[in-house]
Amino acid sequence: MLGRRTRLVPVVPNALERLILLRLNRAPGPVLDLVGGAAERAVGLALELDLFAALESGPTSLADLATRLDCAPEGLEPLCDFLVALGYLVREDGRYANTEMTAAWLLDADGVGPWLAFWNDVVFPFWEAQAVTAVREGAPRQTLYEWLDDHPDRWRLAHEGFRAAASVLAPTVVERLDVAGDARVLDVGGGHGLYAATIAERHPTVQVEVFDTEPAREVALETARERGVEARVSFVAGDYTTDSLGEGYDAALLFNVVHAHDGPESVALFERVREALAPDGRLYVLDQFDGTARTALSRATVGFVGLTYLVTLGQRAHDVSDVSTWLAEAGFEVQDRRSFLTAPGVSLVVATPAN
Ligand SMILES: C[S@@+](CC[C@H](N)C(=O)[O-])C[C@H]1O[C@@H](n2cnc3c(N)ncnc32)[C@H](O)[C@@H]1O
Repeated sequence: MLGRRTRLVPVVPNALERLILLRLNRAPGPVLDLVGGAAERAVGLALELDLFAALESGPTSLADLATRLDCAPEGLEPLCDFLVALGYLVREDGRYANTEMTAAWLLDADGVGPWLAFWNDVVFPFWEAQAVTAVREGAPRQTLYEWLDDHPDRWRLAHEGFRAAASVLAPTVVERLDVAGDARVLDVGGGHGLYAATIAERHPTVQVEVFDTEPAREVALETARERGVEARVSFVAGDYTTDSLGEGYDAALLFNVVHAHDGPESVALFERVREALAPDGRLYVLDQFDGTARTALSRATVGFVGLTYLVTLGQRAHDVSDVSTWLAEAGFEVQDRRSFLTAPGVSLVVATPAN
């Protein structure tokens, strides 16, 4: 058995390197970002080749791995060695193996592999095509959702990516929702259905409806079936800006939806959701908001998603105080705001209809 190092962050400069690069400014700090950019490419390439999956059966020699992946050994070796340096693989006695980090986060069914694949195959190529326009003109020529509608075969990759990102947070978030008994929950823009399925799993008599556009149906119902809750999770296809959302729900979720809309659009959406809620219902808004970050990593994460929302949607990471104002304009009272140690920059805002 090879030793499996656990690396929580792939590249961490040591104390002397931090001093020279980051404190004394005696060497170029951007080199770290160059390595990070190349690391994302290498991991994306490895996922595309199914490299990590090929090592699931145990330590493997370069020759055997090259045969399994149909690669030239001299081509595969530099990729594998870079992944070793980054902490994704180990190499001992001439054999490669996945590290614990890779096993936990890229191979596990609830891992983030599909999320990284979505970034690698769709989002970063979209950045390359649209970033200059978005920065010069304030919006991309078309949004990522419009692009996906023009390339419907890519929707599954998107929903599987969103689901993988949600899998990190879903159990913790669902624990914090105040739903019980035979409550009816509406998941607006619930896409892949993982939040809905997790609620249904945790509360055996609660019913959840996922409201999203048609391309999400297959993945949402598949998620419910895999979790054995298909009898209590349903899917409604529609446009949440124009179609009826129903009525009488005890709780509504708007998770990672508001970042696709500006203030007036968000107010209109909140109003539509208020009409779908029972008078004592609760609205839960989850997103990455500006003004909430307390650490360097949280600030960088919110900055990163803010730029992404600009390039992909022509929007921004909204300030948390703006969202509270929009909720008040739509007739809600904010009751609470919670953040998550495992998801830097993400907040859950809880609101109830004002009387
Ligand atoms: C970023 S995903 C969030 C998915 C899920 N709520 C989560 O937090 O993981 C945004 C979702 O909103 C859906 N969506 C965007 N515009 C929509 C619209 N006008 N009507 C219905 N759904 C929409 C997308 O299809 C997508 O599933």
